Amino acid sequence: MSFSRLSTLVALALAATQLVSAAVPKRVTCADGNVTANKACCALFPIVATIQEQLFDGAECGEEAHSALRLSFHDAIGFSIHGGKGGGADGSILAFNETETAFHANGGIDDITAGQFPVFQATGLTAGDFVHLAAAVGTANCPGAPRLQFMFGRPPPKAPAPDLTVPEPTDSVTAILARFADAGFNPQEVVALLSSHTIAAADVIDTSIPGTPFDSTVGTFDTQVFLEVLLKGTSFPDAGNTSHPGEVLSPLRGEMRLQSDFAISQDPRTACLWQEMINDQTRMQTQFKAAMAKLQVLGQDTRKLIDCSDVVPVPAPFKGPITFPASFSQKDVQQACRQIRFPSISTVAGPAPTLAPVPGS
Ligand code: HEM
Ligand SMILES: *[C@@H]1O[C@H](CO)[C@@H](O)[C@H](O)[C@H]1NC(C)=O
Ligand SMILES: *[C@@H]1O[C@H](CO)[C@@H](O)[C@H](O)[C@H]1NC(C)=O
Ligand SMILES: *[C@@H]1O[C@H](CO)[C@@H](O)[C@H](O)[C@H]1NC(C)=O
Repeated sequence: MSFSRLSTLVALALAATQLVSAAVPKRVTCADGNVTANKACCALFPIVATIQEQLFDGAECGEEAHSALRLSFHDAIGFSIHGGKGGGADGSILAFNETETAFHANGGIDDITAGQFPVFQATGLTAGDFVHLAAAVGTANCPGAPRLQFMFGRPPPKAPAPDLTVPEPTDSVTAILARFADAGFNPQEVVALLSSHTIAAADVIDTSIPGTPFDSTVGTFDTQVFLEVLLKGTSFPDAGNTSHPGEVLSPLRGEMRLQSDFAISQDPRTACLWQEMINDQTRMQTQFKAAMAKLQVLGQDTRKLIDCSDVVPVPAPFKGPITFPASFSQKDVQQACRQIRFPSISTVAGPAPTLAPVPGS
């Protein structure tokens, strides 16, 4: 056999081995019995347990879990694919909290960093790994959420992000899409990321009613927010029927509707993307997971990170379908996308609900 034929055979054999190792994920059993793909991830299991206990009241989908997801966004979005902004998903919002929490768009973020800081210090992780692990774990506490990816090994952040990288609810759709495009996200990914507002409430928009939720199922990662943002009527939650900057009053008692969410639901560039999410749990999970995977490593050299996604708890499922809140139906929908059929959704029986604020806000 000639040398060249031999080396071809060797190359083929090598390729075959690599195929096999790619198909069968590696399994490592840690000293404590946990199983993961990489030995380096073993250190994270007790850290996840600490985060659950000290930050999330033992694995709840409450205020702190919601806040952890918001923090990961406000940290990561301080980045531009054209350079000249911050380090992205680097934890700068935690490490340089004095600088970043002073930005207008980061209203209320100081409460989140204050809660996370001591837990962050106790874990010994870098700020970036902590912020983005806490977001993945907090989100996993919400039934219906996808299990987010977690990449391990971010270096410490070098500097705070500059101001004006975080979109505001008073921004136009054009400004919001431009800011996201500057960070590398297309309109479909923007809508996907806004799935996060299914586990969200506002403290700062109207400080007289802290914890006012964006949908009627704030403890569940479902597609309810995409439906409720489309409901006609502008009465609540403010008793005087006056909206605050960044808010469009909702017809649901006790609900906060962001001006930006409503504008995105109505804009021709995004209305169909928004509508297609309604009652399509799989679409939402898949697209949100993919967009978050991108967001949570913005600005990072991913070749140097280790995939430790298997330390993230597996979220409980959401058994749909979603429903119209009692007294609402198709006639209340302000439909902006005409190209596709609106999904058929049934109405919960009973009188119109009043939503309770999220406790602890
Ligand atoms: C157009 C872009 C966005 C705007 C204008 C926006 C705006 C806001 C505002 C004004 C609040 C309420 C803050 C308060 O009053 O306390 C909020 C809450 C929240 N946002 Fe966004 N957001 C955007 C995108 C995102 C993204 C991409 C994520 C995550 C992937 C996210 C996650 C959250 C979460 C989880 C909360 C609730 C926090 C809590 O309940 O404690 N947001 N957002
Ligand atoms: C896995 O890690 C957790 C958190 O440290 C620990 O409580 C548990 O005993 C470990 N082992 C197994 C098999 O779950
Ligand atoms: C902000 O960071 C400093 C360290 O730079 C820390 O001592 C402080 O507790 C943090 N505060 C908040 C609100 O995160
Ligand atoms: C606010 O709107 C609701 C529903 O449309 C109405 O019943 C109520 O009288 C209004 N309140 C004020 C102060 O205008």
